Amino acid sequence: MKVAIPGVGALNLVYDNIVLIGFMGSGKTTVGKVLARKLYKEFKDVDTIIEKEQNLSVSQIFKEKGEEYFRNLEQKCINELAKKTGQVIATGGGLPIHSTISEKSLIVYINADFDVILGRLPKKERDKRPLLEDELQARALFKERIERYERLATFSVDANQSVATFIHVIADFVLDKRVL
Ligand code: S3P
Repeated sequence: MKVAIPGVGALNLVYDNIVLIGFMGSGKTTVGKVLARKLYKEFKDVDTIIEKEQNLSVSQIFKEKGEEYFRNLEQKCINELAKKTGQVIATGGGLPIHSTISEKSLIVYINADFDVILGRLPKKERDKRPLLEDELQARALFKERIERYERLATFSVDANQSVATFIHVIADFVLDKRVL
């Protein structure tokens, strides 16, 4: 979010929270934990919050209550989190597609290629994600979503390398901004 002040040029406004977006399994949770520790911020994971509140896993929610029900929970959760500041928030891959994220968020797109993601995810992790069950459909979903991720992002990071190699790129970018 930028505003032009005559004679000063573009000035960065303060962001309330850092929100990590990206496709399933791109590493948002891992990145979020490391980033929060590095920046002395609180870490929040939307899927984990929902699972705790519902006392069900994401797969169970999809199976027993349906995807629409889950999407409503995601919107409610991100709205609740937006009431506070100073957090690093990891979202589920579908949240930016189905929900609105506060404009006061510094949004970081964790950008990894589909094949890199698949190669990284052990079967146990794949099984937790109902929308990854069918590889062809998941690949199509990936293609469909990229544009929105890119459009929403304040900043995008190439996440095809290990977290250790790119985490400082995100941290430096964030430190250059003002996040409460
Ligand atoms: C989803 C991504 C998952 C989880 C759910 C739906 C999606 O989170 O929210 O399975 O629609 O992309 P991760 O991105 O953490 O895997």
